[in-house]
Amino acid sequence: EQTLMPATPLAGLRFTITAGPTREALDPVRYLSNHSSGKMGFALAAAAAAMGADVTLISGPVQLATPAGVKRIDVVSAEQMHQAALKVAVQSDIFIGCAAVADYRAADVATNKLKKGASEQLQLTLVKNPDIIAAVAGLAKQRPFTVGFAAETQNVLSYARQKLLNKKLDMICANDVSQPDAGFNSEQNALTALWHGGEQVLGLQTKAALAASLITLIY
Ligand code: CTP
Ligand code: CA
Repeated sequence: EQTLMPATPLAGLRFTITAGPTREALDPVRYLSNHSSGKMGFALAAAAAAMGADVTLISGPVQLATPAGVKRIDVVSAEQMHQAALKVAVQSDIFIGCAAVADYRAADVATNKLKKGASEQLQLTLVKNPDIIAAVAGLAKQRPFTVGFAAETQNVLSYARQKLLNKKLDMICANDVSQPDAGFNSEQNALTALWHGGEQVLGLQTKAALAASLITLIY
């Protein structure tokens, strides 16, 4: 008798994945954001869906097609992503926070376009955005298995481990974004997955291959 690997090993598992940047308005025509392309999060959503999972992708503004079989919720700001994530997370088994959430937003969003003025300097007052993944990992009831990402340019593994502990995550993927080939806006990436009892290096490869390896490691 032959035993076959099921084509859909994740059937019945519900994933929520955040992806892309957030955009924080300054006025009706300007915003603060970052260079996240969303590719890693979309690759994770595609990989999980291809393995049979029920996938909800909460995406900031990106130029990417929705992967086959994935339910997509589009958001713009961190506050919108926070609201959407908490709503969906309580109905999820696994939450992966891949989004590059803006850490701060403008304290006041101007109703009208800001005028240049006479001064050579402009001071913006920013306030901290909610920490979405810490909120999900801190849920008292219906808390999903929670996986974060840590984009770092130095002390990559130790900073990532601090985030694993501080945010009470189950796993974190350390991403050395000082490497020219890895991370933001690249086709390829390399990660080290860290959890409480160990770690696993996932070497430089396409984001699609890396996503499949990471999804397999998680389940
Ligand atoms: N994250 C989040 N909400 C925020 C900021 C970050 O959910 N407001 C999540 C990211 O999606 C990622 C993890 O937290 O999964 C780590 O993000 P990162 O920017 O590396 O960490 P920060 O805690 O924001 O710390 P810093 O930027 O100062 O390194
Ligand atoms: Ca941050």
